[in-house]
Amino acid sequence: MEKILVLDFGGQYNQLIARRVRDMRVYAEILPYTIPLDVIRENRYKGIIFTGGPNSVFDMASPHYDPAILDLGVPVLGICYGCQLTAWMAGGKVETAKVSEYGKIELNVLERASLLFRGVPEKSTVWMSHTDYVSEKPAGFTVTARTNDCPAAAFENAAKGLYAVQFHPEVTHSEFGRKMLENFLFEICRCKGDWQMDSFIEDSVASLKERIGDKEVVLGLSGGVDSSVAAALLSRAVGRQLTCVFVDQGLMRKDEGDFVEETFTRLFDMNFVRVNAGDAFYKALRGVTDPEEKRKIIGTEFYRVFWDEIRRHSGKGYFAQGTIYPDRIESGKGDADKIKTHHNKVEMPADVEFLGVIEPLADLFKDEVRRVGEKLGIPHELVWRQPFPGPGLGVRVIGEITPEKVKLLQEADFVLRDEMAKCGYEKHLAQFFCVLPGVKSVGVMGDHRTYEDLIVIRAVTTDDFMTADWAKIPYDILGRVSARITNEVRGVNRVVYDVTTKPPATVEWE
Ligand code: XMP
Repeated sequence: MEKILVLDFGGQYNQLIARRVRDMRVYAEILPYTIPLDVIRENRYKGIIFTGGPNSVFDMASPHYDPAILDLGVPVLGICYGCQLTAWMAGGKVETAKVSEYGKIELNVLERASLLFRGVPEKSTVWMSHTDYVSEKPAGFTVTARTNDCPAAAFENAAKGLYAVQFHPEVTHSEFGRKMLENFLFEICRCKGDWQMDSFIEDSVASLKERIGDKEVVLGLSGGVDSSVAAALLSRAVGRQLTCVFVDQGLMRKDEGDFVEETFTRLFDMNFVRVNAGDAFYKALRGVTDPEEKRKIIGTEFYRVFWDEIRRHSGKGYFAQGTIYPDRIESGKGDADKIKTHHNKVEMPADVEFLGVIEPLADLFKDEVRRVGEKLGIPHELVWRQPFPGPGLGVRVIGEITPEKVKLLQEADFVLRDEMAKCGYEKHLAQFFCVLPGVKSVGVMGDHRTYEDLIVIRAVTTDDFMTADWAKIPYDILGRVSARITNEVRGVNRVVYDVTTKPPATVEWE
């Protein structure tokens, strides 16, 4: 399989670079700059991309690399810090500028014949973010583009296949960035671009079959995208040797537990175990109002119920989970080898034993996981599910959690989702849901005064959930949702819309 190496020097965009490459149907993997040159040699990459990074190349504490990498005969594209590093390794000069260049900058291509700039106009916009710059190109290299403040915004030694750009072609603000990456992959590295989800599925199924043999596999299925796709893939590989354990905490959205069970028992060949643990969860949560305490109890209870079930399979085969690539890689620290401790990661109790842990999606990004899911025939609404917190509606019922409150919230949330699906507005939202804050207020119904619950609608737009904006849902849609909730959900007489960004608020209320 043809592969591109994204050598990680700590740039914030390293995952983005790999995703862009994979979008062009060439497999890319991110490895830290600490991997030995021999490993790179053995892996026979079609090309290598040096990422950006927050450091200065002349600070010797910064990430560096063996200059012999430039003599492997493998094409290299250095980006930002990677560009300066290329210059430094090849004997050029890097200096610190008086002013940083940041944002959208006009790029002037000087060498239209450069393969990297094939199809790129003489003037275009690129995204820059740097203070150091290459002040003297290395011997044997040609400067191929410049900006007002950056005399060598791109340079190359085409004979050796070495290319460097000070700007970031991977971000969408670089108008022809995609074209440049395409040129690197297809004109310079001569990739074929035949990596696709079908071949991923075929290869994975074959290797899972081989690894698992006639043993059992047990997988914790949450109903989220990742574990669902892992389940479908394992089912395709080993069928009934797979057991999926689904713990229903009684805190899912309306009918969601049934939907997950129905999907996996009807569409896929596997053993499906549903543990209905709602009563135990509610009992443990009785009288508890502190949000952290509630989370802790839900977590502990889940751990107990889940492992009690999994323990039955201990010693018999493999344990599988739906870890995906971003779960493993801490972006932007040059440490792509370090496993991130993820808040959903399962710690195995000491007395549970398996032959090994299988993570069939460990090399995929979220959008790739979704594509695999669709190809495996998982229903659209599961594959495109919005994020749902591990503790479920437990974080959306403020104060004490009771089955009655959860029921009321489920009904209101169902109306919201139904209305958003009907009008199609859901596609504009990253996440939307209802919250039950536990506040009652006075209302009027017919001739009667009411004193009932308040429902909050929360809807956000965001790319990464680190920050979020409240969604500007049209008033008429909000009006319809409000009318339906107050009409259809008994016990609710008022609906409000949360118009707070994150920060200072969070997406969830807790
Ligand atoms: P906050 O509320 O922190 O939420 O702004 C950011 C995103 O994370 C989700 N979230 C969780 N996801 N387990 C999860 O898997 C959790 O415990 C958890 N808590 C919050 C939240 O829904 C939002 O998408």
